[in-house]
Amino acid sequence: MEQREENVLKQLDVLILAAGLGTRMRSNLAKVLHRLDNRPLINHVCRTAATLAPRKIYVVIGHQGEDVRRAVLEELDEEHAEFVWQKEQLGTGDAVNAARPFLENVDSTLLVLSGDVPMIRAETLAALVQQHHTHRGKGAACTILTVKLDDPTGYGRIVRDSEGLFSKIVEQKDASEEEKAINEINSGIYCFDTRKLFDALSKVKNDNAQGEYYLTDVPHLLREAGEDIAIYRHNDAHEIEGVNNRVQLADMERILCRRTIRRMMLDYGVTFIDPKNTYVSEQASIGRDTVIYPNVVIEGDTRIGDGCTIRSGTRITNSKIGYAVEILDNCVIVDAEISNQCTVGPMAHLRGHAKMEEKSKVGNFVELKKTILGRGSKASHLTYLGDATIGEKTNIGAGTITCNYDGKNKHATEIGNNVRIGSDTMLVAPVRVGDGAVTGAGSVVTRDVPEDTLVYGAPAKVRKNLKETEEEKAESQTSNQA
Ligand code: UD1
Ligand code: CA
Repeated sequence: MEQREENVLKQLDVLILAAGLGTRMRSNLAKVLHRLDNRPLINHVCRTAATLAPRKIYVVIGHQGEDVRRAVLEELDEEHAEFVWQKEQLGTGDAVNAARPFLENVDSTLLVLSGDVPMIRAETLAALVQQHHTHRGKGAACTILTVKLDDPTGYGRIVRDSEGLFSKIVEQKDASEEEKAINEINSGIYCFDTRKLFDALSKVKNDNAQGEYYLTDVPHLLREAGEDIAIYRHNDAHEIEGVNNRVQLADMERILCRRTIRRMMLDYGVTFIDPKNTYVSEQASIGRDTVIYPNVVIEGDTRIGDGCTIRSGTRITNSKIGYAVEILDNCVIVDAEISNQCTVGPMAHLRGHAKMEEKSKVGNFVELKKTILGRGSKASHLTYLGDATIGEKTNIGAGTITCNYDGKNKHATEIGNNVRIGSDTMLVAPVRVGDGAVTGAGSVVTRDVPEDTLVYGAPAKVRKNLKETEEEKAESQTSNQA
């Protein structure tokens, strides 16, 4: 009993294997940097591991190690992550062995995870650790997370003895026909008594089909030495699936998305007209009674309120949308904020921290970049508004353009409240249009417009030929004189 308590109190460390290239991906990019739900695989594993609040998370890196390190540090604080370089990828046993200098004499429980098994849930890992610590009242030397698969091809198989106890793990390439028929597989996720792991690891050899040092030999060696090996068999196969090729990656993306949409329908009350042809990130949230039409893509940290309608072909990325917002077909909305009861589209483009205040409207072929469109204001047709601030109840006529770029710098446009910008107005920034002002159709506004003032007309006149050289200028001056 005492020993058991000791075990429960044992410190938890995590080790994530992420040094391999992932040959089967046929990619120039290291496997753990491939994206699921638009985040590198390794980030999923790191985020899940961090929720267990371990003392340290060791990440074994090798292939594109600097890039993997950067990805990990997007997810973990520097003080909680420790990077371990594996110089040559000689197998999973060798990968763990690379952490020997850090861990060999540490009294802890080591949870080993794979950088390419991203769907594993924190609850499952917590249950694994729990079983490891309490196995037979005193804890196990190693606990293996396993699952039964209809098609176990490619995975290491769990061989049990006549009493059903763990005997060994045999890799696909080393398995006999009889062993290949076993459908209980090794998830590649384990808990170890850290000291016992490193003791056994020094005895692992590479005399197998792949000439690699297999971590999977360790449980067998421990058992031979009389240690207790526990098995935690999980029932959700998807959680344990590894990504070894792009087919598996695409399958996983689909499963994750399907789960997200299902959760949104059942728990949040969101309507999806065609769930199979809709993409929603796991990180997004959508409010009650919002209706999502087919072929909508909702990515990243996007928050959508209650009672919205999002029509087909629209993509929304990292944006915040209030309640009762109507977004028509084929809009692209990135890093934007749309307040309550706004209307957008069809075919509108909002980006670069564009913000629409309540009850404002953006119509067909309108682009907003780094622009605030005030409460109740409208830009209904064919317009570009960049680096602009627009007040309340202002109407921006069809074909209006803020000429915000002079070829070198971007300049701001400020438009007040209750302004009527006539069709086809060019606002040459920097420029301000006061409250209640009106611009005539086709105006080219190059100077500030005072409040309640009507301006119109185009000042465009030929000033100079930009290509004319100084020499030519001098020449033409002489001929003029002649
Ligand atoms: C491994 C297991 C297998 C299990 C499967 C579950 C071994 C020998 N086999 O096989 O029993 O069913 O995972 O998904 O462990 N890595 C390194 N350095 C290396 C080799 C691999 O860091 O030298 C990393 C990889 O980047 C990867 C992880 O270890 O994240 C697993 O390696 P992988 O080659 O994918 O092993 P599997 O063949 O899938
Ligand atoms: Ca794998």
